[in-house]
Amino acid sequence: GERLDFRTSKQRLLVVANRLPVSAVRHGEDSWQLEMSVGGLVTALLGVKEFDTRWIGWAGVNVPDEIGQKALAKALDEKLMQRCIPVFLDEEVVHQYYNGYCNNILWPLFHYIGLPQEDRLATTRSFQSQFDAYKKANQLFADVVNEHYEEGDVVWCHDYHLMFLPKCLKERNSKMKVGWFLHTPFPSSEIHRMLPSRLELLRSVLAADLVGFHTYDYARHFVSACTRILGLEGTPEGVEDQGKLTRIAAFPVGIDSERFIKALELPEVQDHMKVLKQRFAGRKVMLGVDRLDMIKGIPQKILAFEKFLEENPNWRNKVVLLQIAVPTRTDVPEYQKLTSQVHEIVGRINGRFGSLTAVPIHHLDRSLDFHELCALYAVTDVALVTSLRDGMNLVSYEYVACQESKKGVLILSEFAGAAQSLGAGAILVNPWNVTEVASSIGYALNMPADEREKRHHHNFKHVISHTAQEWASTFVSELNVTIVEAQLRTRQ
Ligand code: ADP
Ligand code: G6P
Repeated sequence: GERLDFRTSKQRLLVVANRLPVSAVRHGEDSWQLEMSVGGLVTALLGVKEFDTRWIGWAGVNVPDEIGQKALAKALDEKLMQRCIPVFLDEEVVHQYYNGYCNNILWPLFHYIGLPQEDRLATTRSFQSQFDAYKKANQLFADVVNEHYEEGDVVWCHDYHLMFLPKCLKERNSKMKVGWFLHTPFPSSEIHRMLPSRLELLRSVLAADLVGFHTYDYARHFVSACTRILGLEGTPEGVEDQGKLTRIAAFPVGIDSERFIKALELPEVQDHMKVLKQRFAGRKVMLGVDRLDMIKGIPQKILAFEKFLEENPNWRNKVVLLQIAVPTRTDVPEYQKLTSQVHEIVGRINGRFGSLTAVPIHHLDRSLDFHELCALYAVTDVALVTSLRDGMNLVSYEYVACQESKKGVLILSEFAGAAQSLGAGAILVNPWNVTEVASSIGYALNMPADEREKRHHHNFKHVISHTAQEWASTFVSELNVTIVEAQLRTRQ
C-alpha cells in the first residue's frame, strides 16, 4: 500500500512537560533571570529542531500575581529557540504535586526504591491529598494546552508528572492527537501494583493514542500492568479496551551529538581543556556527572572508588575522581539526606587517602555550563555511570560523543536504559556490587589502546546515528500513522 510519511518541518508540535527548558529566578520585582534547566528530558527535547514547537511547562518558580505572570510569560516567549509557555502552579500545589506525589512517590517507585514509609503507615489522607493535587496540576496543564491548541497540532505529553494529562485532554477534545512518553523506567507490574492510585493512572495514560518508552522492557512492563491490573487485552501493537487500541512501543532517545562534537572545536572549550590537562597532568582522571539523586548510585560509586584505592596502593597518587553533582529537588527530605551522606563519604575518603598536595576525590555540588562540560567529557580517561536504575542516561551518550580523539572508557550500570544501546562498547557493571565496580575501574585504567578504540568506535557509531531529532521524528510520525489507522478502522 501507500507509504504514509508525515515527517514535515511544518508540523506544529505542542510539547507538554512539567519542566520548561529554562527555569526562572526572580530578579527584581517583575524581571526574571532565566537559567537552563538540567536533566535528560530537557537535553533530549532541546535537540528536536524540525518542528514548529511550543513548549508548555512550569518555570520552577512561584508567581502569585497576574502582573508578574504576564512579565514572565513575555520573557519566556522572547528569548528562546523554542517558544515557551508557562503553567503557573501555586506553592501548595507544587508542594503536594511536585515534591510530594511526583518526586516522593512516583519517582522512587518507578526506580524500584519503593514507596515512602510514612505514607504507607500514616493515614491514607496525605497520599490521597497528594494525588488530588497531582490531578489538579494536570488539569492546569490541560487548561494551558487547550488555550494554545490549534486543529491538527500534535500534543506530546512527557513523563511521570503528567500521566493524568492524556485523559484530561481527550475528555475535552476526543479528536486531539495525543502522545505520551515516559523518560523513567516503567517498573515491573509487581511494583506498579503497590501504588494506591494504580488503576486511575494506567487508565488515564491509555487515553493517549500512542504511548512510548525508552526500552522494549519498559513497554512490556506497562502492557503487563494493563493486562494484570486492569484485565485488558495486550496485543503486539498495544492494549485494547472496548475496541479502542492504544499503541505502545519503544522509542529510545538520543542526543544532539553534533552539538557536542562541534563544541569541542570552540576556543572557549579548548581553553577549558588546556586548563584541565595542566591541572591533572600525570594523573588519570575519572568522571561522574549526575543530578544529586538517589537513583544515580553516587555513594556506591564513591565507595567502589575507595575500594579500588584500598586494593591498589600504586594508583593512589595517580588517579583522581571528579564527581560533578548538581543539587536537584532540594525541598524533598530524601534528597537532603543524600547530600549530607555524599559529603560525609567524600570527606572520609579524602581524609584517608589525600596528601598535602592532592586529594583523590573532587566533589562539586553544582552544574557546569555547556562548554565546561564538553571540555571535561573530552579530557577525562574514564566515565563512571553507576545508576541503580535510570530510564536511559544521556550523560553516557554525551561522554561518548566527546571522546573521538581520546577514546576513553565508559563504565556503565546494567540498570540504565543506555546499557541496551551502549552495552557492547561499555564495561557493564552491577552498581550494588562494590567489588565488581572496583575491579572494573582497574580494568578500565589499564585497558590497552586497541581495545579502547574498538569499544569507543562501537558506541560512537550508535550515538551519532540515534539522535534526539530522530527519536522525536519517529514518535510523531508513528503518532500520525496510528491516528490514520484508527480512522480507517472505524470507517470499516
Ligand atoms: P537525568 O535525566 O536523570 O538527569 P540523564 O543522564 O539522562 O539523567 O541527563 C542528565 C542531563 O543533565 C545531561 O544532559 C547532563 O549533561 C546534564 N547534567 C547532569 N548533571 C549535570 C551537571 N552537574 N552539570 C551540568 N549538566 C549536568
Ligand atoms: C529527569 C526527569 C525529568 C526532570 C529531570 C530533572 O530527567 O525524567 O522529567 O525534568 O529529571 O528533574 P527536575 O525535578 O528538576 O525537573
